[in-house]
Amino acid sequence: MGFWGMPLLLSCQSLSKSFGARPLFEDISLSISDGDRLGLIGPNGSGKSTLLRILAGSETPDAGSTAVRKMAKLGYVPQDVQFAAELSVLQIMQEAAPSEDGAARIPAALGQVGFENGDALAGSLSGGWKRRLAIARELVRQPDILLLDEPTNHPLARKAAQNGVVRQRNGEPRPLFSGECRNGYGRAGPALSGRPVSREGQLQ
Ligand SMILES: Nc1ncnc2c1ncn2[C@@H]1O[C@H](COP(=O)(O)OP(=O)(O)O)[C@@H](O)[C@H]1O
Ligand SMILES: [Mg+2]
Repeated sequence: MGFWGMPLLLSCQSLSKSFGARPLFEDISLSISDGDRLGLIGPNGSGKSTLLRILAGSETPDAGSTAVRKMAKLGYVPQDVQFAAELSVLQIMQEAAPSEDGAARIPAALGQVGFENGDALAGSLSGGWKRRLAIARELVRQPDILLLDEPTNHPLARKAAQNGVVRQRNGEPRPLFSGECRNGYGRAGPALSGRPVSREGQLQ
């Protein structure tokens, strides 16, 4: 249970994963409550994307379990999202939000990540704008949790992530850690492939 008796939004217990003989990570436990922003930090190849895929339910762990609060909607933006080049931004959003309610949320979702309109073709977007579109496409579905794998650094895209967020960066754990703290990411998860800097604790 999280604060005030609300069940945790998302948690995992003692996750372990190997590809072949090499253990990628072992015994990872974390929990995300309403309003949390959580950063996941580790060098390249340490298993951040794999952990996010496991949390998103698209990869199975070798050991351990994950739990999502009943009825909670989980959004996930993978590291590399591809769109059909001939579709417009608006068409891609409409596919993600086919209901009338959903369609009404499209302009706001696009605005949150910095699109002024939905006219551009996906094939003409730079990598950064594709990432923003991928985030907007998840936001329009109104997820309770948004898992972002290597999100763009654009402040609008950051701001867009309002709910519980697992956010990750490459590099050495410690400095990025405090950097994230100053930027308002209030809590830190395990630092993969290295000494855990903090587990479920407050940032310094
Ligand atoms: N499906 C897979 N099969 C085999 N090896 C994989 C697979 N997915 C990831 N790996 C390996 O696991 C390691 C961690 O990958 P990844 O989770 O992408 O790390 P990160 O996101 O921290 O850079 C890498 O060495 C990668 O090659
Ligand atoms: Mg990765």
